[in-house]
Amino acid sequence: MESQYVKKHMAWLNLFTGMHYGARYLKNRWSEFLPAENFEFVEKVSKLLFASVNETCTNKRALDLGCCVGGITFNLAAKFEEVIGIDCCKGFIEFCEELKKNGKATIYSTEEGDLDEEMMAEIPESIDRSMCSFILGDVQALPSDIGMFGCVVISNVIGRLEDPMKVLRSLPELLDDYGICVIASPHNPSEDFTPKENWLGGFLNKDGQTMKASQTIKDILSEKMELIQSVEIPFVLQYQAREIGFIISEVQAWVKSPQKS
Ligand SMILES: C[S@@+](CC[C@H](N)C(=O)[O-])C[C@H]1O[C@@H](n2cnc3c(N)ncnc32)[C@H](O)[C@@H]1O
Repeated sequence: MESQYVKKHMAWLNLFTGMHYGARYLKNRWSEFLPAENFEFVEKVSKLLFASVNETCTNKRALDLGCCVGGITFNLAAKFEEVIGIDCCKGFIEFCEELKKNGKATIYSTEEGDLDEEMMAEIPESIDRSMCSFILGDVQALPSDIGMFGCVVISNVIGRLEDPMKVLRSLPELLDDYGICVIASPHNPSEDFTPKENWLGGFLNKDGQTMKASQTIKDILSEKMELIQSVEIPFVLQYQAREIGFIISEVQAWVKSPQKS
């Protein structure tokens, strides 16, 4: 199944570049209704991740699965020595490469219909962009030589895959002992992305039990890892200036436990 992201990426480029890099332009306009902190998802996830790092882990490689336009990937370079972002959408990867090369890129926020507002995505000077590399690929079929990591992030992606369980089960296998995994999801399954028989939650099972993705993720990851913390982090997607989606992701941070391997 070709991802909807590949089909619709041009329409979504503005949404995600705005979310990852547009906060300083977008956050004040509606602050009366929508507190500015809702525009800081990428920063908050990065902060939670850095706070979760277990220094016992000597592996300083990080992997951002479904990196989109690279906001979290570039942030990871502040703490890790090598960061790989992987996404199935060519347009998003090309945007990441442009930012890596130039440190900045023009982005657009849709004001109204065909009217755009120009903004600038900028990577802080303090970030060594050369540590980041980007791969056009499918997180459900990672390159066999991708190696092991000290950190794996999968943010707002698991519920947008054809086979989320396969990727969920692969997460501990990508980590060295004491490596961390941060998984964010608004748990909003959709048949546009995932055949219903592959949903992680959002249905009654054959015994009539309520299945929820949050618990399924915990059941699977706890086989090999320990949950460090789970928090709610909201974000906004600005479709047009006056049409704004408000989404709340559950963000779980896990550490790979040597006792469970
Ligand atoms: C909702 S966006 C999330 C982006 C970013 N991680 C964040 O939290 O803002 C989902 C991303 O996953 C990517 N994606 C979806 N299915 C994928 C797959 N099978 N392999 C790689 N990337 C995928 C999409 O192209 C898109 O960039």
